[in-house]
Amino acid sequence: KSNKPCLIYFPSIGNSTLGFITIAESNHNVPFEIKRVYWTYFTPHNVTRGGHAHKNLHQIIFAVSGRIEFSIETLSGEKSHFLLESPDTGLYLPSLTWRDITFSHNAVLLCLASEHYNESDYIRYYSDFKNEFRSQEI
Ligand code: TYD
Repeated sequence: KSNKPCLIYFPSIGNSTLGFITIAESNHNVPFEIKRVYWTYFTPHNVTRGGHAHKNLHQIIFAVSGRIEFSIETLSGEKSHFLLESPDTGLYLPSLTWRDITFSHNAVLLCLASEHYNESDYIRYYSDFKNEFRSQEI
């Protein structure tokens, strides 16, 4: 089980004649119990979503359609970029990962989440994220 944001490749069964199927299973190729699934769509090209971190939530996020770009910052201040553009590739985001997300016009983001929705699990201000970081560093 990784504690760092990383890409996870899911098996793709099929071929270009018949099409493909990809499977995600809790505690198997998904490193947590899936408690919630949500998806976003029709996000305009010029909009940045995300802009938060989570205290406890773990997620795997797919671009089941289109292209989705992530700017990520970890608790230790490490910044990285991920581009999702294939429906068989998920981005694992552990808790305490700040993310800003942009979308191609046709993108559909699918998220597998380890917890039910809980607004108090969100860190919505970057300054709070950095403070959380500082308090955990001490
Ligand atoms: P948010 O997670 O802030 O979206 P994004 O990171 O894509 O910008 O959620 C947007 C709104 O939807 C916010 O008002 C909370 C609500 N929401 C739920 O009610 N339940 C959920 O499971 C999620 C993910 C969001």
